[in-house]
This record gives sequence, structure tokens and C-alpha cells, in this order.
Amino acid sequence: MTFQTIPSRIDPSSELFATNTGAYQALVATLRDRQQIAIDGGDGRQKSIDRHHARGKVMARDRIDLVTDDNTPFLEFSTLAAWGQYNDEAPGAGIVTGIGVVHGVPWVFIANDATIKGGSLLPVSIKKHVRAQDIAAENGLGVIYLVDSGGAFLPLQDEIFPDRDHFGGSFHRQARMSARGLPQLSVVLGGCTAGGAYVPALSDEVIMVEGIGRIFLGGPPIVKAALGEIIDPDDLGGAVKHTRVSGVSDNIVSTEHEAYARLREICATTNRRKVDHDGGWLERTEVEPPVYPATDIYGIINDDSRIPFDATEIIARLVDGSRFATFKPEWGTSIITGFARIHGYLVGIIANNGIIFSEAALKATHFIELCEQRRIPLLFLQNTTGYMVGDDAEASGIAKHGAKMVAAVANATVPKYTVLIGGSYGAGNYGMCGRGFDPRFLFAWPNSRIATMAADTAETVLVDIRRAGLKADETSEEQIAEIARTIREQYETQSDPYYATSRLWDDGLIDPIHTRDILGLCLSLAARQDEPAAGPGIVYRM
Ligand code: COA
Repeated sequence: MTFQTIPSRIDPSSELFATNTGAYQALVATLRDRQQIAIDGGDGRQKSIDRHHARGKVMARDRIDLVTDDNTPFLEFSTLAAWGQYNDEAPGAGIVTGIGVVHGVPWVFIANDATIKGGSLLPVSIKKHVRAQDIAAENGLGVIYLVDSGGAFLPLQDEIFPDRDHFGGSFHRQARMSARGLPQLSVVLGGCTAGGAYVPALSDEVIMVEGIGRIFLGGPPIVKAALGEIIDPDDLGGAVKHTRVSGVSDNIVSTEHEAYARLREICATTNRRKVDHDGGWLERTEVEPPVYPATDIYGIINDDSRIPFDATEIIARLVDGSRFATFKPEWGTSIITGFARIHGYLVGIIANNGIIFSEAALKATHFIELCEQRRIPLLFLQNTTGYMVGDDAEASGIAKHGAKMVAAVANATVPKYTVLIGGSYGAGNYGMCGRGFDPRFLFAWPNSRIATMAADTAETVLVDIRRAGLKADETSEEQIAEIARTIREQYETQSDPYYATSRLWDDGLIDPIHTRDILGLCLSLAARQDEPAAGPGIVYRM
């Protein structure tokens, strides 16, 4: 097995390449537009942005910018959470999360956006908050909470409050991360009412900004209703009260800017490994850019999604020097397996080239075990319509072979990363390390699709099922056509990448040309950790 530069068969001067590029650029333009709407758009949002500024308050993303080191990247997650939900009144679900660098150390940031529903937490906001905490826990990162929130979004309290991954689950995570030595720091920049009060209260260190930061278990209206007391919010739970009287807060500052300077000082005392910490468990070689430009990816992915593209061409544009050591290239060819380096880190890549057949499932299983044994992180590039069906496939034992792959993925303890570069259908989503299999990060490209099956297959299957249940003489062809149309529409809507990202089935839609750098950043987080303990070593050979 040798590392060889992948020979590309793409012709960038072809008409097809130009057509595909044009179509993909339009997809990327839509992505950027929608992200911009999430950042500063939304129905009637301008009024609350103006009010926020009039109070002398800084916007959530600018707050993060004031804390992080100059000229360092910020990897924002799920910018388009809640897209198309809640009457489009909650861009980004009213919360900004991501990884930023402070004094050379990576931190997870969770910042409420008070210009959206007062920063209160809708069901998707809670999901985003909890997901950011899980990313922190798995990648060994401390969390900085920039709190400015009305707490639970009360009209939907049943979808936020009591369940495992609801508000309670976020406090459970916070307490456990703190106990594990992952610092939890809060800056209180607005309301922290009721449950929201526990975010700072459970933090290792708290900063409150005078005049804007408030913490109370029950705000003035509740106090009035319960006790008949009329009290000013600042007197009840302002920075002076909590820093000089109750001791709930550890620091008081007069302005937001002072708060961020103080926060940076606190970060400097947390004794955490830096981004470029050497002595981690992943060896790193010199970084080399790929031989082929990343923008070629736009021309490689066919505008007509029914026409397949070769995943090897994508790998060639993601990995160092475009060099790849393929594993078993002449067997089970509908999956490509092999080793490469991304930003100097060795990874095992598993990429689909269409439907997964039995041999391909076995090869992938074998390869996952190799990476597990050799302690090499795994990268899954998903583009599959799923596992093969039919008489021959069943006879070849596809159900069991697919299950072996699923089991191997589930039990692999090395860091796993998934990128949806095309279709993610059926159990292919599982075997290729979909969300249910806890990849450390899962990103999707704007051409991706995710569903149990493709819309035309669903139409055929469900129409057949419905037809069988209907009395032939009572059902007209128009009714059948209407059923078909409804099913197709439903599948097309629900497999759209914006539908998926809105619900946090991924950690964000990304422009393909950023994929390599994002993966490099994710790998660098794993590299600064201690080696994860190996699993029980499930062995499924042929
Ligand atoms: N649930 C639902 N909506 C909430 C909310 C909550 N917990 N907190 C704020 N909102 C909404 C408001 O209804 C308002 O909606 P609108 O823009 O559609 O009118 C919007 O968020 C802004 O709230 P507003 O009170 O005008 O903003 P503010 O900046 O003056 O005050 C808060 C912000 C958070 C201090 C204040 O809204 C508040 O105290 N909210 C209730 C907090 C609470 O009791 N939470 C209990 C959680 S268990």
C-alpha cells in the first residue's frame, strides 16, 4: 500500500464542468444569503436590533469576536438552525454556538441572541445549546456562556423543559463537564431568569455587567404575584446585588468591553492545552495543499443529482498533496477506502461510490477495524442511496454484512467525522456514520439530501401500499395521482438540506471548498487530547 497522487480524470474545460460549476455556485450563493438572513434578518428583527444597540449592547457574534484572539478562525455551528420553522421568527434559533480561540486555546462558545424572542430558548435552541455542550465534552473543550436570555420559551415549555436533552439535560452536562475539569465560564449580559439562572450559577466563574446583567429565580412579575413585593429588576438580581451581597457572581464590571477583557484574563488562568499543543496522540506531518483546486468540486458534482460522481475526485481535492493510499481498490468498489493526510493528520477515509453492496460493506467493516486497531481517525464521505436490495443482494447476505458495518461504526472509539457530500439515504446513513452514530462532527454540503429513500422511490412504494389498501372501484387515477404528488412533495421537502440543518441533523451546511480546513481544525482538537481508550475490539472478518 503506497501513497500516490490521485490522477484526476476531470476535464475543467468541458461544457459539463462549466454547467455544474455554474449550478453549484448558485447553491453556494443561496447558502450565503440564507446565512446572512440568520445573522441579521428575520421578520421585524431590525426593531429589536435597534433597541439592543440603543441599550448599548453588543450583538452576539460581535461579543464572541471581542473575546477571541485576533486573526483566528471561528467555527460556527448550525447557523441555519430553525430555518423555515417558528414562522421564520427565530433565525439561528436565537443562539450562536461555535469554537473560537482565546490565548491560543480552543473554547466552545454559547451566546444567546437577545434580539430574537428576548434570547429565550425554543426547542431547537435547546437542541443547539446541548449539541454545543456535547461537542465540548467530546473534544475536551471548556465552555464560555455569553448569557442574555429570557430562559425557556414559555409557550412551548413542554418541548423544552423536562426531557433528557431539554433544559435539565443542559445543566446536567454543565455540572459534569465542570467536574471533568472542562471550565464553564459565564458572562451575564442580560436576563438569566428561572432555569436560565442556573447557567451562571453552575459556572466555575461568573462575570456580571452592571446595568444589564440580571440573575433571578423569579423576575419582578413573579415576585409581585407570589409575594406582593414590587421591586426593581436591578435591586432584585443585578450585578451589584449578586457580586457584593449574595456572592452568586464573582466579578462585576461596568461595560461589556471590560467583561471580555476580564474573561480573557480568567481564560488565561485555566491551564488548558493550546490548539497547536504538541505531544498529543495524533502525529502530524508537514501540511501540503492538495494538487487540485478545491473549487473543482463545484464542477465535479453533477447538477443532475441522478448522475453519479466519483468520490475519488473529491478526495483528491481534500487531502494533503492529493495523495491517497487506497485499501483493497479492486474489491467492493462501491465503497472507496484508504489512508490520507488532512492538514498533516493521518485519517482513514471511507467514501461511497453509489449503492453499498455486500462486498463493499465487508470491506468498509474491515477498514474500520484497521483504523480502530491502528488508532487512526475515520472520515466518512457520504453519497449513497443505501444498501443494495433484491434477490441477489439478500442471497449475498446484505442484511448481515450491512449490520457488520453498522456495528463496526458504532463500536469504533477513534474520532469519527462525517461529511454529507451527496445522498444520505436509508441505512446507508447509519453505516456511513450518520448522526445516530455520534460522529464528533457532521457537516453537509448544500447539494446533499437525507431521507429514508429518494422521493421517486418513496412515491412508488407508498402509492403501491396505498393502492393495495384502496378498493379499485372506489379509487380514481386522479386520487392516486394526488397521493403520489403529496408523497413526492413531502419527501422532496423533508430531504432538502435546509430542512435537515434546521433540525440539527448536522452541525452546519458548509461550502465544499471550506471542508478541508474545517476538518483540519476538527482533527487538531482531537490531536490535543489524550488518546481515547480502545473499545472491546469487535472483529467481523469474512
Ligand atoms: N418565553 C417566550 N417569549 C419570551 C420569553 C420567554 N421566556 N422571554 C422573552 N420573550 C419574548 C417577548 O415576549 C418578546 O416577544 P415579541 O418580540 O414577540 O413581543 C421578546 O421576547 C422580547 O422580550 P421583551 O420583554 O420585549 O425584551 P426585553 O429585552 O425588554 O426583556 C427579558 C428581555 C428576557 C428580560 C424579558 O423578556 C423577560 O423577563 N422575559 C421572561 C423571563 C422569564 O420569566 N423566563 C422564565 C423562563 S422559565
